Amino acid sequence: MTKIGINKKYKSKIKEFIKHNKFYYDKNKPLITDSEYDILKKEILELEKKYKFLTDKNSPNNSVGFKPSKSFAKYKHKLPMLSLSNAFNEEDLKNFEKKIFNYLNKIVKINYSVEPKIDGISASLTYKNKILESGVSRGDGRIGELITENLKTIKDIPHKINSNNFPSEIEIRGEVFIKKKDFLKIKDNFANPRNAASGSLRQKNPKDTKKMPLNFIAYTFGYAHDYNGKYQSDFLNDLKKWGFKTNNDNKIFSNIDELIKFHKKFEEKRFDLDYDLDGLVYKVNDLKLQERLGFTSNSPRWAIAHKFSADNAYTKIINIEIQVGRTGALTPVAKVEPVNIGGVVVSNATLHNEDEIKRKDIRIGDVIKIERAGDVIPHVIEVDKAKRDNNSKLYIFPNKCPSCGSNTLKEFNKLTKKYDAVRRCINDGYGCERIAIEKIKHFISKEALNIEGLGKKVIEKFWDLKILEKPQDLFNLNYEKIKKLEGWGEISVKNLEKSIDKSKKVSLYKLIYSLGIRHIGSESAKLIADYTQNIDTLIEILRKKQFDKFLNVDGIGETQINSLNHYFSNKLNFNILVELKKILIIENEKLNKDGSLKNLTFMITGKLNGISRAEAKSLIEKNSGTTLSTVSKNLNYLIVGEKPTKRKIDKAKILGVKIISLHELQKLSN
Ligand code: IVH
Repeated sequence: MTKIGINKKYKSKIKEFIKHNKFYYDKNKPLITDSEYDILKKEILELEKKYKFLTDKNSPNNSVGFKPSKSFAKYKHKLPMLSLSNAFNEEDLKNFEKKIFNYLNKIVKINYSVEPKIDGISASLTYKNKILESGVSRGDGRIGELITENLKTIKDIPHKINSNNFPSEIEIRGEVFIKKKDFLKIKDNFANPRNAASGSLRQKNPKDTKKMPLNFIAYTFGYAHDYNGKYQSDFLNDLKKWGFKTNNDNKIFSNIDELIKFHKKFEEKRFDLDYDLDGLVYKVNDLKLQERLGFTSNSPRWAIAHKFSADNAYTKIINIEIQVGRTGALTPVAKVEPVNIGGVVVSNATLHNEDEIKRKDIRIGDVIKIERAGDVIPHVIEVDKAKRDNNSKLYIFPNKCPSCGSNTLKEFNKLTKKYDAVRRCINDGYGCERIAIEKIKHFISKEALNIEGLGKKVIEKFWDLKILEKPQDLFNLNYEKIKKLEGWGEISVKNLEKSIDKSKKVSLYKLIYSLGIRHIGSESAKLIADYTQNIDTLIEILRKKQFDKFLNVDGIGETQINSLNHYFSNKLNFNILVELKKILIIENEKLNKDGSLKNLTFMITGKLNGISRAEAKSLIEKNSGTTLSTVSKNLNYLIVGEKPTKRKIDKAKILGVKIISLHELQKLSN
């Protein structure tokens, strides 16, 4: 990007930032979620870090919050009320600590005061001679609003201190917030508990504030005369003695590993708490050290907020595209304005099928809430109909296949007496371009012919260049042409040739499975292969359309038979199998029914050393074992490789599933 382009991008983000600050701080009606706001802030800061020429007085580096409202007298904070920098992961925390060591020019042992970061609004209370003299909102961090009378209506805020060891003058800071259960009663008027707290606190008439169930938790001080506590944790204890409320979940930890462990535990617990929180605050516990570390222009060097990850975000639907799958299913996908969810930028969300769009009345231009949890494809949770444009139009699902123009159909399920939710292209074969491409992708995939060095993108490219139109073309590729393509060279072409050659030796069941026929997964393929024994018999049955023969096979039912009939009635599809037979070395890998792993179930997590997952699976199956795809009480062994999914191991431990290595599996298989 050019310098002008970068600057333009930066300024537009700053403009966004100003807009959202206004809605958030001044109007108490945020347009975006907190995590979206944090991301915007992070994007601006990252741009500034990368391109030193970018500056703006409204950058989050120079500004905190929003300028005070005109309804209140202005009040200049003696010490600015700054914000905290954010950490989202271990690396950010390590960087935070590294910066401290760099600043001090030595490595020191740090204890941290850990405090829940309540999602309310901060307020500052100045006490002189034990009397509350003034109460101020944060405002823009330097100038706040004088709201003493409003703050005085909050029962948790003492007007007068009775303890003896109270400093002669101190500015105590803390969070004003509304508990979740109280928010439920007033939720119609505010976007969230924090906005409710902010709105209630900044009422013109303190009597209106008094009506609201506001709470106050104290956590730090701006300045203090005659205070001689040594640690933040001492200060938190003193606050309690002086009559302030502090958080019951405050803790002390002494290294980053402990912080991360606690964060993880607390992230799960947070939904059970009575207040909203968006992370934990870690503060250097030693107050002397805090003083040495001081502040950057907008945050302390001695503290950081470790945010919880959000799993949803609001965004806008730019378009709805229809994808055609391998078996002709039309899947609508929402193309959305890119949004960062828990560190991953999402620009597509599945809309599942035609019925889902109808049920939720999803339209192009709609603002939607999308969720991305675990490995699940991002999906729409709800449509924000209040933000819908007046001109928005109902989305009409296409009744022709967007790829080949054939009619589409919703099947009628005789059993449930309902139409299927999914609409399909009636052309389940190579006559439809998209279906053909998806079928070839399936043909080369790990569980099918497993051709290494051929990915989905390469298939798309070869298709576009007309190098590849049917599966059998793979075995007659024009390698000279491929060599000249961008990204290909002598070696990669040689490797491709080798792996294609290797894949020519294939078991009958893998071949049946690799055709990608609807309802013929690897289990059905195995049963058909076992029944027909060899490719010639199979082809004969198909040629003569003796599909009923399969009725004799236990495990093959009407659904599979209808699907086989439908698929092979298409001449193109049938010819592909005949052609493949001429090229491939097809063997019937007789399944061993009484192998050493008989009646045992396995699941793999993590990367296995030296063998692919598909190979491990086939080792299990060759020895009569079964593989499962979820950890359940039916699982006997969990095979753990490198970088396994911790959740799966934890669950296996709880259920008493045996945890073994690849080596142990190989031993069991002998
Ligand atoms: S200490 C110099 N401690 O987080 C900043 N802040 O992003 C020192 N907050 O404005 C703030 N819980 O509204 C601190 N235990 C806690 C907190 C906390 C919530 C909020 C506060 C502050 C914001 C900073």
